[in-house]
Amino acid sequence: DIASIGLIGVGTMGSALALNIAENGHDIALYNLDPTTIDELIDRAGELAPRLSKTLDIKELVEALKPPRAIILLVPAGAPVDITIDELVKHLEPGDTIIDGGNSDFKDTQQRTKRVEAEGLQYLGVGVSGGEDGARHGPSMMVGGSPTAWEPIRPIFEAIAAKFNGEPCVAHLGPDGAGHFVKTVHNGIEYADMQMIAEIYGLLRDAQGRTPAQIAPLFHKWNEGPLQSYLVEISAKVLDAVDPETGKPMLDVIVDQAGQKGTGRWTVIEAIKMGQSASIIEAAVGARVLSSERTVRQAAGDILGSDVPEGIAFEESDLESALLVGRALSYAQGFRILKAASDEFDWNLEYSKIAEVWRAGCIIRSAMLDDISTAFKSDLPHGRLILSNHFATLLKTHIGALRRVVATATLAGLPVPALSSAVSWYDEIRQPRGTANMIQGQRDFFGAHGFARVDQDGEFHGPW
Ligand code: 6PG
Repeated sequence: DIASIGLIGVGTMGSALALNIAENGHDIALYNLDPTTIDELIDRAGELAPRLSKTLDIKELVEALKPPRAIILLVPAGAPVDITIDELVKHLEPGDTIIDGGNSDFKDTQQRTKRVEAEGLQYLGVGVSGGEDGARHGPSMMVGGSPTAWEPIRPIFEAIAAKFNGEPCVAHLGPDGAGHFVKTVHNGIEYADMQMIAEIYGLLRDAQGRTPAQIAPLFHKWNEGPLQSYLVEISAKVLDAVDPETGKPMLDVIVDQAGQKGTGRWTVIEAIKMGQSASIIEAAVGARVLSSERTVRQAAGDILGSDVPEGIAFEESDLESALLVGRALSYAQGFRILKAASDEFDWNLEYSKIAEVWRAGCIIRSAMLDDISTAFKSDLPHGRLILSNHFATLLKTHIGALRRVVATATLAGLPVPALSSAVSWYDEIRQPRGTANMIQGQRDFFGAHGFARVDQDGEFHGPW
């Protein structure tokens, strides 16, 4: 029994990916710390079962594979990846490839690539998006590593990937950590989009007293238009759902505290390290953090008051436009962070290709990504997405709606952290004469840091 690929970590994602690989005609050898999950998978695999084989340790897994071997890791990010690599390097041979398909920190992937390559082995760090359903029927995959490691793996990955108009949503994007970095930024954008959707839901709920069932049709309708996307689609379904136990709307029985595993936060941290603003994503991360401080929020609501005045009206078309502009601006921030990393690490990232890989299979897939990939293929002023014809027109057409939504919400005391960050960032970035002259004046006043003048070359100090 010689399998063409191995997989370690047969959890939710691992099981789904294994079935996807098997369905595409490949025999796959599996290893999991708890072998019963493999039995369960094989039990429910039906006609795919003969393509799946269970191994009881890593040595057995390695022996079950055709050299040069390829082994996918889908274990929790962090120490479990290192522990698995430690074990694998004892058994693998030069030319074999380890593929980390988890949500690893790209810096770990850079280190692991060096370490594994020093052993004569190859390493790929692959960001895999799309949740369980994506893994089963076609994820979007962002590959980092050497082209020599990638080329032999490519056919299997292209076969199992999501397709957009027949094009596989997987690409080799750059060396070592590039794939995981792109996946991290994907998640940052995911956080921002989810937060903006939640804010719009909150306005409809708190300003207008609408029930989830009354909000759902709006999201269904929006999903037929320019906002078409997986996140709007599933939000409509979440709004529709009824709790089988109580018969109440499902949303009304879910506690308002959001979890996070960390990738959204990493995007902000890396952006700030490179001196980039990630304000919309940062607002989304911050909102999740504040959401978890439920008892403080409840006390603050009592002490500071949480009443919302009656009779606040939002035009439905304004809410739709606000979400559209917010989405465009958060993508724009995401791509700026990608550019900063590409410059810093010499990755030579191709932004249109990244947008293409995100068009299907991943969580942030949306109609807008096709426009983004087209925009990046054109000659963009200063390489900036928002300055393309398409996006400049979109922003100018819809920004007024975002302003009205943010202003009305703010006057009513309803929080819109991500949407308001979006509008502030837009206003900042299109302000020809900013206010940093004051910062420079202050810096020179207290620290003689010097400033440039608008009318002369050189460095100057003020008369303070
Ligand atoms: C994806 C998702 C996924 C992520 C979860 C949970 O692209 O499929 O981004 O990789 O791990 O959505 O993320 P949080 O726990 O941080 O919300």
